Amino acid sequence: MILCSFLLLSSLALVGWAQSTNNTTTKKFCRNVPGDAGFPTTIQWTSLNASVSGRLVHVVPSVQFCKTLPGDTCTPQQLHSSVFRDEIPGAMNQVNWEQDYDSFPPSLCEPESRVCGQGNVPLFGVLAESASDIQAGVRFAQAHNLRLAIKASGHDYLGRSTAKNSLLISTHKLQNISFTDNFVVGGQSLGPAVTLGSGVSLQQMYAVTRAEGKFAVGGTAATVVAAGGYVQGGGHSSMSPLLGLVADNCFELDVVLADGTLVTANEVQNSDLFWAMRGGGAGSWGVIVSATFRTFPTFNASISTIILSTNKTESMAQVATVHAKHIFDRDALHAGQYFYLSRTNILQANATGSMVMNILTFFPNASVSQAAAALTPFLDDIRPIAGIDMQQSLVQANINDALFSADDSVGDNLVLGSRLVPASAYRNSPETVGQVYKQLLDGGATNILGNLVAGGKVSENANVSNAINPAWRTAKTHMILANLWSDSATIPEVHSNQTLFQRIQLPLLEVLSGKDSGAYSNEADILEKNFQTTFFGPNYAKLSAIKAKYDPNDLFIVGAGVGSERWDIEGICRV
Ligand SMILES: Cc1cc2nc3c(=O)[nH]c(=O)nc-3n(C[C@H](O)[C@H](O)[C@H](O)COP(=O)(O)OP(=O)(O)OC[C@H]3O[C@@H](n4cnc5c(N)ncnc54)[C@H](O)[C@@H]3O)c2cc1C
Ligand SMILES: *[C@@H]1O[C@H](CO)[C@@H](O)[C@H](O)[C@H]1NC(C)=O
Ligand SMILES: *[C@@H]1O[C@H](CO)[C@@H](O)[C@H](O)[C@H]1NC(C)=O
Ligand SMILES: *[C@@H]1O[C@H](CO)[C@@H](O)[C@H](O)[C@H]1NC(C)=O
Ligand SMILES: *[C@@H]1O[C@H](CO)[C@@H](O)[C@H](O)[C@H]1NC(C)=O
Ligand SMILES: *[C@@H]1O[C@H](CO)[C@@H](O)[C@H](O)[C@H]1NC(C)=O
Ligand SMILES: *[C@@H]1O[C@H](CO)[C@@H](O)[C@H](O)[C@H]1NC(C)=O
Ligand SMILES: *[C@@H]1O[C@H](CO)[C@@H](O)[C@H](O)[C@H]1NC(C)=O
Ligand SMILES: *[C@@H]1O[C@H](CO)[C@@H](O)[C@H](O)[C@H]1NC(C)=O
Ligand SMILES: *[C@@H]1O[C@H](CO)[C@@H](O)[C@H](O)[C@H]1NC(C)=O
Ligand SMILES: *[C@@H]1O[C@H](CO)[C@@H](O)[C@H](O)[C@H]1NC(C)=O
Repeated sequence: MILCSFLLLSSLALVGWAQSTNNTTTKKFCRNVPGDAGFPTTIQWTSLNASVSGRLVHVVPSVQFCKTLPGDTCTPQQLHSSVFRDEIPGAMNQVNWEQDYDSFPPSLCEPESRVCGQGNVPLFGVLAESASDIQAGVRFAQAHNLRLAIKASGHDYLGRSTAKNSLLISTHKLQNISFTDNFVVGGQSLGPAVTLGSGVSLQQMYAVTRAEGKFAVGGTAATVVAAGGYVQGGGHSSMSPLLGLVADNCFELDVVLADGTLVTANEVQNSDLFWAMRGGGAGSWGVIVSATFRTFPTFNASISTIILSTNKTESMAQVATVHAKHIFDRDALHAGQYFYLSRTNILQANATGSMVMNILTFFPNASVSQAAAALTPFLDDIRPIAGIDMQQSLVQANINDALFSADDSVGDNLVLGSRLVPASAYRNSPETVGQVYKQLLDGGATNILGNLVAGGKVSENANVSNAINPAWRTAKTHMILANLWSDSATIPEVHSNQTLFQRIQLPLLEVLSGKDSGAYSNEADILEKNFQTTFFGPNYAKLSAIKAKYDPNDLFIVGAGVGSERWDIEGICRV
């Protein structure tokens, strides 16, 4: 508050004296960090701790946390387990987000680090167990002008759930789950639904929906939180071609706003906020306490795994062309598919070639023979390609079991870049797809991750009133490039990996997607130059206005999120 009025006074003063003063008087507005007069004292932190029933912790990087465990260390298996990392307040799944490569000297905490730096890890964290814990944390951050970070699982590929010098609010412990046969909003019956706390992981969700004989749309990941960043970004699933995006299936959100009030957002209450929080980007609106999603009666799915290995880039490019030609084959069955190409370590992945395309197809409500028949034309065109080794399996399972993951393999230094590829690109020129794959592989791409999670119901839902980027409604696939580096990478190598997507891969991917195509904000590149249009399309102006209404002081700022153009890259100072 004190800083706010200082800024106001100094800018008023500037109006009159712009000619006679120089810029040293226009001190930038910044969040308080340690050393600043306004940074909370120990006594004030202790008082926050008391108001959250002792649930305030000092937050440390994951590798530092491991040093406090029995044996003083974590095993490599633990470090690569999302289930294990979920219990570490400071842990991000992609460990690069914990590091600050750009401070002088860099502030790193990696398994081989002799001394651990705090990096981009928050300083304090409220491990919330109730809405009132969240409210206390939000009010404290607001009162003391602190940088705030919110985290449910730490899965975020853009690093948006951690922030240097921040206070963290973790919602991981909010594990409530309740079902209803008829969820009512404004007197209107919306049918069966499940309400999930903002700490409930997808693996937990599938376990309980299975037990109830139900299903709620979700992704294939162990610890991603539906009521966290997932729904705010949009949330795709292999069931999306049948049932739509997660944001299309959300009935209500309970949210702590920037002023500390707890509100309900649905079609009749705070409906503008409800619109924004379903697709308008994670971390920009308030802290979700719980979210309510539509449920369906459970069903079975047939799941096909096809593994295509080769040593020849040319052959893999032909695979991509054939795949593109047949991409509409399974539309009538509303099948979803992941087609993940990676360069492999032959010994590790059991693959017989240096490149492998792993194609996982989910056929909802279809028999194994229906699924096999729907894949036959594709496989018939793959067989003549030279130098391809093929492995295949096809099973039937309850949909909850099919989507359940026991763990996610994480713990790498990894960044993504992505584009939504319109259906028209596949209809017009499947050969272009093969050419783009060839160029990406020649350009050093190690992971080209195709997600056939659009079309069908995602397109039909174009008239659902939410902030989903319209690019989703005309898309067929969500294409991701993943770039990884090792802990031993030098800082220039890190930078080179971080910028690889923008420099080399995006221009190639745009040959497919078109220059104006959108991208999915949850699995994307934080360095997107025009993130406002790329992530939010024509919705950005409306999203900005809703943000101004609910978060006028920009308490909730994340990289490449709504309003972030007003802040520096760390979200500490206004620009
Ligand atoms: C292994 C893996 C598999 C994935 N699979 C899929 C998939 O199938 N489909 C898909 O769509 N996406 C998938 N994702 C991406 C996923 O949607 C994003 O990583 C998403 O941001 C995760 O949300 P989270 O809350 O669990 O993560 P976090 O890292 O905890 O948070 C992500 C963002 O949400 C904000 N946030 C978290 N909790 C709250 C809260 N309670 N209130 C307000 N804001 C909050 C954070 O500030 C941050 O901005 C996957 C990611 C991984 C790592
Ligand atoms: C303007 O800046 C110069 C140096 O950059 C400094 O010496 C001078 O005191 C400043 N003037 C005012 C009015 O702040
Ligand atoms: C003063 O600030 C303005 C806008 O921030 C900038 O364009 C200008 O170059 C600055 N002038 C000096 C002398 O630094
Ligand atoms: C908060 O209080 C609890 C319980 O009294 C204590 O264990 C914890 O260390 C305190 N947190 C901080 C950051 O001091
Ligand atoms: C979780 O459920 C319990 C029991 O119904 C309730 O008392 C509590 O307030 C709920 N917590 C949250 C965060 O909603
Ligand atoms: C490799 O093959 C073995 C034996 O068939 C199997 O247990 C293992 O899961 C496979 N590994 C991968 C990564 O597929
Ligand atoms: C790829 O090359 C390796 C090593 O030369 C060989 O063993 C393997 O059979 C080849 N794989 C394919 C699919 O041709
Ligand atoms: C699955 O099939 C059954 C029987 O035809 C049908 O009642 C049900 O609605 C289908 N489920 C979904 C999710 O489409
Ligand atoms: C669903 O799949 C299971 C195998 O996981 C099978 O036992 C069961 O019979 C199937 N149910 C239907 C209705 O097909
Ligand atoms: C959207 O349009 C479809 C028909 O195309 C209709 O069935 C559905 O009710 C509409 N939904 C909304 C929210 O208007
Ligand atoms: C990424 O980092 C690795 C080191 O882990 C390095 O070998 C590689 O050259 C880097 N990639 C790029 C594109 O710079």
